[in-house]
Amino acid sequence: MLWIPGPTEVRPEILAECARPQISHRGKEMDALSARIDPHLGLAFGLAESSTAQVAVHTCSGTGLMEAALHGVGPRTLHLVNGAFSKRWHEVALALGKSATKLEAPLGETVAPETVARALAERGPFDAVTLTVNETATGVRTPIASLARVLRDTPEVLFLADLVSYLGGAPVDFDVHGLDFAFASSQKALSLPPGIAVCCASARYLERARNSKRASFYLDPIRIVDGHRERATLATPCLPLYFALARQLEDISAGATLPPSERGRSGADAWNARFAKHVRMQAQTVAWAHGHGLRLLPEPELASPTVSCLRRGALDVEKLTKALAKRGELISNGYGDLKGHTFRIGHMGDHDEASLARLLAAIDELWPTVLA
Ligand SMILES: Cc1ncc(COP(=O)(O)O)c(C=O)c1O
Repeated sequence: MLWIPGPTEVRPEILAECARPQISHRGKEMDALSARIDPHLGLAFGLAESSTAQVAVHTCSGTGLMEAALHGVGPRTLHLVNGAFSKRWHEVALALGKSATKLEAPLGETVAPETVARALAERGPFDAVTLTVNETATGVRTPIASLARVLRDTPEVLFLADLVSYLGGAPVDFDVHGLDFAFASSQKALSLPPGIAVCCASARYLERARNSKRASFYLDPIRIVDGHRERATLATPCLPLYFALARQLEDISAGATLPPSERGRSGADAWNARFAKHVRMQAQTVAWAHGHGLRLLPEPELASPTVSCLRRGALDVEKLTKALAKRGELISNGYGDLKGHTFRIGHMGDHDEASLARLLAAIDELWPTVLA
């Protein structure tokens, strides 16, 4: 089983969707397919009923939509960096020729809202701020609300958020938190194969992007969002993954991906039950870790609900990951500088507490053989 923080396990029903006969992407069946997807994406992004934001799907991985997000904003960007994936925003911005400034926090921490407020006041003006809400490399979730409060005082600055490894795993309040462009890959908490990505763009983001010069075609955010809304994708989409996305979103909204004892919920209630399951799995992981003298890398209040990054304690991470892999259970070594010092368990997507208990029991059995 895949317990790495993405790609995650995909249910057989969803894999079967990928094997459906193809359709014309310029026909009524495609329109119907996209129409199946949109309302559920609204729930995933937590859109208000009166929301003027637009959701879209694009055939690319999450990084493609990160780049698209930056194509739609002006040249002065501010990046909150607390790990490898949040750093990617800065790298992409530099590659696009932006005047990109980064604010860095130590691994396992977040950039404090006061630091952001100071940078906005003293080092601006900026056109956009970027945040990776769930830093998959360190298992840190940055509280969006406190940053949203800071950004409320600078309405000219667009708020761009990476929700990869978060969307579908935890609640998002796109409108309430004043997000302007947010995206996620399919292969993380949505439990789909990799290859497509989803996004949501605010009306003000779209207006500004529409009126700016955008140096991209395939990753032009306006072509992506308009193409989805008008049911005229700018290129041939990955149809198998669209089938899978539609079915998975419908199943999540119908409560069909919940553990059997929790079925019978639907709509936002079902999504909230999915999010609550992830919180319980995170608590289960932490309780197990504490019982083994292990600690999370971040402080508890910053711990991600979808991926736990644990300090190695007495363990040899290489031995642990290899021994588990022999049993068909895959967890991840630490990322970058954290390799060998931490390991990560992705408890997101369609996994449940019972399957997590089996993984943790497998580590228990291996314990004496995987010590440093
Ligand atoms: C937080 C985060 N952002 C971005 C990415 C890159 O996404 P993709 O590989 O879909 O381009 C990842 C991948 O692991 C991620 O975890």
